[in-house]
Amino acid sequence: MEKLRWEDRFTVNIASIDAQHQKLIEMINDLEYSINHTPSTEDLASVLMRINKYSLQHFRHEEEILLKNQYAGLDEHKAQHQELIDKSNLFYENLLQNDNQQETALNLLMFLYDWWEKHILESDQNYAKYFSTQEILIP
Ligand SMILES: [Fe+2]
Ligand SMILES: [Fe+2]
Repeated sequence: MEKLRWEDRFTVNIASIDAQHQKLIEMINDLEYSINHTPSTEDLASVLMRINKYSLQHFRHEEEILLKNQYAGLDEHKAQHQELIDKSNLFYENLLQNDNQQETALNLLMFLYDWWEKHILESDQNYAKYFSTQEILIP
């Protein structure tokens, strides 16, 4: 499976957001490490719980900036964030209930790699383009 790595093309030119995206990528790679080292269900669930908490914190920060700068695509952007949270919560429940937790964990990992890469490179880049033409207000 191809790892998710930070690259310059991921930047949105807002330092706090870039730092959070880097941290998220690191956390998802930690999950891959956990999966490959056959941890207990509890270990996997707690790594996922940490990712979900940090994702929420990141989304709140990003949405505050978008709101403060009257970004027109805010509602649609928020809906995408919510979708990640909903799906991750479902994976969390499945991990705790499912017999085949290794397979569930690998599906989760693929989902997170795909979602974050696509979201940062497309949706987050859309607001970065918007901000490139004006002064950014940081709340
Ligand atoms: Fe976002
Ligand atoms: Fe983001």
